Amino acid sequence: MDGRDLVRSIKAVGAVGVTQGLRAVRAAWRRGRTDAAGLPPRGAERARVPGPVLEAEPGPGGGLIRFSRAELRIVVTVSGAVFWGWDGAAPEPSYALAGRWPEPDARAVLEPDKDGGWRVVAERVTVVVSRHGAVEVQTPGGVMLRRDLPPRWWEPVGGGRARWMQRSEVPADARFFGLGGRASGPRLRDGVYRLWNTDPGLPFGRGDDPLYITMPVQLVVSDAATHLVFHDTSWDGTVTLREGEEGAGSGHDRMGASELRMEGGPLRCWVMVGTPARVLLAWASLTGSAAVPPAWALGHHHARWGFGSEQEVRRIVAGYRERGLPLDAVHLDIDHFDEHQVFTVDRERFPSLSGLAEDLRRDGVRLVSIVDPAVKATAGNAVYDSGTAEDAFVRDASGRVVRGLVWPGEAVFPDFTHARVRKWWGHWYEERLAQGFSGYWHDMNEPTSFAAFGESTLPRSARHDLDGQGGDHREAHNVYALCMAGAGYEALRELSPGRRPFVFSRSGWAGMQRYGGTWSGDVATGWPGLRASLSLVLGLGLCGVPYSGPDVGGFDGSPSPELFLRWFQLGAYLPLFRTHASLRAGRREPWEFGPEVLEHARVALIERRRLLPYFVTLAHLARRTGAPYVRPVWWGAPEDRALRDCEDAFLLGDSLLVAPVLDPGADRRAVQLPRGRWYDTATGRAYEGPGQVLVDAPLSRIPVLARAGAVVPVQGEDSLELEVWAPARGRTGGGLVVPDGGDGWEAEPEMERYVSRWEGRRVVVRREGEDGVSAPPHPVRVRGLLDGSDQT
Ligand code: NOJ
Repeated sequence: MDGRDLVRSIKAVGAVGVTQGLRAVRAAWRRGRTDAAGLPPRGAERARVPGPVLEAEPGPGGGLIRFSRAELRIVVTVSGAVFWGWDGAAPEPSYALAGRWPEPDARAVLEPDKDGGWRVVAERVTVVVSRHGAVEVQTPGGVMLRRDLPPRWWEPVGGGRARWMQRSEVPADARFFGLGGRASGPRLRDGVYRLWNTDPGLPFGRGDDPLYITMPVQLVVSDAATHLVFHDTSWDGTVTLREGEEGAGSGHDRMGASELRMEGGPLRCWVMVGTPARVLLAWASLTGSAAVPPAWALGHHHARWGFGSEQEVRRIVAGYRERGLPLDAVHLDIDHFDEHQVFTVDRERFPSLSGLAEDLRRDGVRLVSIVDPAVKATAGNAVYDSGTAEDAFVRDASGRVVRGLVWPGEAVFPDFTHARVRKWWGHWYEERLAQGFSGYWHDMNEPTSFAAFGESTLPRSARHDLDGQGGDHREAHNVYALCMAGAGYEALRELSPGRRPFVFSRSGWAGMQRYGGTWSGDVATGWPGLRASLSLVLGLGLCGVPYSGPDVGGFDGSPSPELFLRWFQLGAYLPLFRTHASLRAGRREPWEFGPEVLEHARVALIERRRLLPYFVTLAHLARRTGAPYVRPVWWGAPEDRALRDCEDAFLLGDSLLVAPVLDPGADRRAVQLPRGRWYDTATGRAYEGPGQVLVDAPLSRIPVLARAGAVVPVQGEDSLELEVWAPARGRTGGGLVVPDGGDGWEAEPEMERYVSRWEGRRVVVRREGEDGVSAPPHPVRVRGLLDGSDQT
């Protein structure tokens, strides 16, 4: 036990009580013992590099290049994505891929390069392989985007799983993003980032790393192009990043560097090159399109660990209603379970959940249930009994069911990497549907098992099916929650075929967007936590997970009224807009912070509801194009260095730029604008980008700017309306609308395309369709006219 472990265990004991604390000590010892017996000892290892090139053999999309001690397969696909795998590594099997991967590009050619190397030339990318096995990705014009140096493996002398290391170089001006949900981003500065999904155990702040979702996915932005690189292996590892430095024209640039060290798994990788939009589209076509949440899940959610009773839930919902505050969902945490046991109900405190659900539903409020993977290990618990009969729980190397410690006490863990177990688990959602729940909040699925020291998860030697491949927790850990999300999502599609499932999950991995979204986890209450909230949402979006949001107000403690309000105002523009807090935290209802905060929170809530059609459109666009709803301000102009370094604002779709207040005491703030005219949506004042402007940010609102020309779908009195921001004179604008206020699978809603332009002294909006141009079927309101008037 090192010093940090000791501090953690003392804090853990304080946080969970003495009995649970002592159990956590025992659980940690037990886990250690299991691994001591179950993990092979690390013996002598031999290092290997590819060695000199021998020959090459063309194949579909590229070919096979043989070195004296390794071989490399390169495939350029029709989508422009490049795959390469060492030593026979193929794209499948993979938990990230959506089941099909793009066809090899028949036009890509393998040809000899200088110095005995080889290259694959394709339309959008060139891949150059040196004679010692360095792999360089270049733009078609020959500009280097990434150079992976020859990899190095360490193999056990008697054979078995190899560790490996891959160093890469990127241009000196490049910036790194991604790696899953990181509290220190969105720009990932120099440092070591771990690839092991982790419950930090305590509320986390900026810089705490790793957190619940890690992914070997880097998005790298440089002047020459943007690229995404994905090393498809789920093992534990680290990424060490170092940004480059430009020598101010002296010719002494220092390139940026990334070093990936993995404990095992195939060395295989995908690279996608282009604009950010193109890269995210290629990523979504590889790993699957993002689930579109039901429209209500794009509204406001109120959660709380410790409502404690039906009456309290009713009191909160009535509090919203009486004050005229929009509310769309209430989340019940583990305190509504019978002694914290998943798929049960505490009948004393929640005597009629389905009745509660019905009453809430009449007020337009849905109920969402927490779902924890750990099952209380006790005979008589129906999930435990049926899981035992089904042989559903993870076992150790000697065949005993692994026991851990979570909220209900001694617990066992379903092996979600087994198709049969996923199916079995899925049928329990029927119980939740019968209680009247409409959505599912997967928690503690890193998976977490409390331990006073060492790692708070399953033993690394625990066995998993890994969909027939067989393996241990070192390989299964990072995909555990992804597989749990798959189990829930697929079950709901069957159990409730008319509704779009709403699943969001604390942990996950590349591809999790197929099943739903995520949230911040236990973000610490404080201004740094507020900043971390934005960084998580932006970073996850760039890894293909577009739906997420923080615990508004922070998970622990009591935010000041100002902090709560600023968090609320930010949350109102993020995909998941949810207040949530811990058992012992202070209140989080907007009316608990005084009349002024209440008034301003009301404005944010009403604006969120007004923007619902825009959020729904963004959800559909994310599904179709891979573009996250929340995008960095450099999304459309990654070559703009000032935008690339801007971390405190974001684009919401194409039309809006949101500049949250992230510091106390501010009543205005600097905003870095992309090119073009932008209107302050509150005052109508126009600003010209690119450049930095100072914008008012009184307590009553955060700055939201609309792009000139934008056509934004909003909710009017009783129908969808188009809010149009006047284009600059001589310019045009536009927007997309996917009208869908529902939660079903009705025939794919048609995407409406609008164009805005000046015609004489008027701004006009036209719908562009396959059969030509027509008048919009929705009322139109033009804003941003110079005389301050609105044209309707
Ligand atoms: C940890 C989750 O992150 C948090 O949101 C939840 O309230 C607690 N578990 C209790 O279920």
